[in-house]
Amino acid sequence: METPYACYLQLPDLLNLQRPRTPDDRPAQWADEHFFITVHQSAEVLVSQALVDLDRAGQQARAGQDAGAATSLRRVTAVVDVLESHLALLDHLAPESFTAFRPLLDDASGAQSSQFSELFRRIAMRDCLGSASGEEHTRGREVADALWALRAAVTRWRTRHLLLVERMIGDRPGTGGTSGLAYLRSRIDLPPDG
Ligand code: HEM
Repeated sequence: METPYACYLQLPDLLNLQRPRTPDDRPAQWADEHFFITVHQSAEVLVSQALVDLDRAGQQARAGQDAGAATSLRRVTAVVDVLESHLALLDHLAPESFTAFRPLLDDASGAQSSQFSELFRRIAMRDCLGSASGEEHTRGREVADALWALRAAVTRWRTRHLLLVERMIGDRPGTGGTSGLAYLRSRIDLPPDG
């Protein structure tokens, strides 16, 4: 019988979604690919929360609620910080183990994550909270600081991801069709001042 906990969190659905393509008569590779899928799926769940909070920050900023907007932005930053340390989980996947199931990914790549792209795109925008008039306008110090901290957190995520990719695939091209490391290096910008 399903508990209220499992029902509230829809655990049967959630825990039925980790499905390695490795056949289960190869248990070591199956466990490695399960780990890889779990790391990516849990990251996507966290990114969906970051997007919710970024929307909320925009609503608050447009309503002139700067303190609330800064609070929401700091929660987005906390999530991005966790996403950065979350990447460290993959330090527990040996590059040769990844290479063994990598062909099963076909051309799937994190670069196709619509949620990560949306998060990165919005955070890079000069006025990422939007303004009623559509014009850039000066935010209060607290919001400006919170935005700066968020951009810095994204840069840390990208740097950590780059190091992970270097360890995992070295100079080989990405499954998304890019050059891999060189492409990812070109995506790292330092956050703008102020
Ligand atoms: C074995 C571990 C990983 C490898 C080898 C890897 C490799 C790559 C490569 C080579 C790219 C460039 C695009 C391409 O040609 O594929 C890329 C992009 C990307 N990956 Fe990963 N990745 C790994 C883990 C992750 C994880 C855990 C996440 C988050 C869930 C992630 C999210 C992304 C994102 C969002 C991009 C686009 C980056 C940007 O726009 O700056 N990757 N990855």
